Amino acid sequence: MWSGRFREPLDTSFEQWQRSFPVDWRLLPMEVDASIAHARMIGAAGILTADELSRMIAGLEAVGALEMSESEFHNQNSPSVRSISEAEDIHHFVELELTREIGDLALKLHTGRSRNEQIATDMRLYILGCIETTLAGLNNWASALLDLADDAGEAVMPSYTHLQRAEPVLVSHWLLAYVSMIERDMSRLNDCKDRMNYCPLGSGAIAGATLALDRTIAARSLGFSGPTLNSMDATSDRDFALEFTQVLSVLGLHISRFAEELTLFSTAEFGFLDLPEAFSTGSSAMPQKKNPDLTELIRGKSGRLIGAATALSVLIKGLPLAYNKDLQEGQEPVFDASNTVLGILNVLPAFTRSLRFRYDRMAAAASTGYLNAMAGATYLSNKGVPFRKAHEQIGNAVRFGLESGRELDALKLDELKQFGDQFSEDFYEAISIGATLDCHDVIGGTARRQVRTALEGAKRRIEADAASRPQKSEKLV
Ligand code: ARG
Repeated sequence: MWSGRFREPLDTSFEQWQRSFPVDWRLLPMEVDASIAHARMIGAAGILTADELSRMIAGLEAVGALEMSESEFHNQNSPSVRSISEAEDIHHFVELELTREIGDLALKLHTGRSRNEQIATDMRLYILGCIETTLAGLNNWASALLDLADDAGEAVMPSYTHLQRAEPVLVSHWLLAYVSMIERDMSRLNDCKDRMNYCPLGSGAIAGATLALDRTIAARSLGFSGPTLNSMDATSDRDFALEFTQVLSVLGLHISRFAEELTLFSTAEFGFLDLPEAFSTGSSAMPQKKNPDLTELIRGKSGRLIGAATALSVLIKGLPLAYNKDLQEGQEPVFDASNTVLGILNVLPAFTRSLRFRYDRMAAAASTGYLNAMAGATYLSNKGVPFRKAHEQIGNAVRFGLESGRELDALKLDELKQFGDQFSEDFYEAISIGATLDCHDVIGGTARRQVRTALEGAKRRIEADAASRPQKSEKLV
């Protein structure tokens, strides 16, 4: 590719070690598409005749159709794909294979382009594809959560602050919290897609192509919004990869929190759910065990995602403009992070759908431990007692209850009245489970009618999003 000015051959172990082909073979479809787009651009600039352009495109399509498995890409002795042993990277590979397909005409393809713009383009195309698959997977997970929320009806559970029981909430309200996170993740993915949707082709090695190329041809042919606006930035920018992995790491944190809650809720101590057997494992030592491997593994994998985003930040920090070979190291974290997320999203929706909550245990946990104390204070403040005083009066009632081992609703009215004048018969209704939920009657609150509205809204948005996707694929990787 570049040996003209060299007198000595490369040291063989260095040559092998600096190759990126063992990693970037995944970019074959993107490299082929980008090469076709470049061919169209140099065709329009008069470098290729119409006939040469169509032969070149046919040759590239043949290279793109090479059916190779991962193991074949690592097989330097592959009988069918001979260039594997020679290829330094995916760009080199495609040129070598194209030469085998169409002969010397292939050597014209590199007119007016550089691998620096190619890798920047291929990686953008790769990530844009991953974003679509991730969005489809997230939609699938959100709809699994919405189905669970539907099934939960008016089931209640305790909510926690500081991991101490706080107030009762609807189980569906808790599930909808994760749908909110997913919707933000989807919006972040869409944002980063919009920002990365510009085509580096035509940027050359650093200063722009040395031919008067119409860069909009390549941008349009690859489905980008337009060409990038600065050649130095375009060839060295990896914000798109950084942002993508950062978005995935935030998504990983959400999934990890869900995984942690389920791990906790499935313990005998909580007993809020039985782990689905199809997604759990046993212990080789302790016969009685059923372990939450799926949720634990997910929690662990979120660390990998943060690792990918961190690796890219550290890689980019301090790189002078423009291209530096360090950037080659930016590929693996992207591939690893996207495979990790797609792997998770392959199992998480089905796992979520198979969850069966023990609503009786959840309800029992929500009706003990004075979770209606806040509703009690609200009752008093609705009767004109300043909230600070109401808080104290209910606090006194709780202490009184604790001393005699009774919940607030088991205290007699004359016992309550010693803490404040405003207690009357309707207090008991005001601290019932229904009233305790319904006093949170604000947008985003756990009042039953608010949650019904929230659930309908989320379903509408998630269904509309699903309908806007090209097709729903069950298998993501
Ligand atoms: N394999 C290289 C990479 O991934 C392609 C770009 C090489 N450019 C260069 N000037 N050596 O970064």
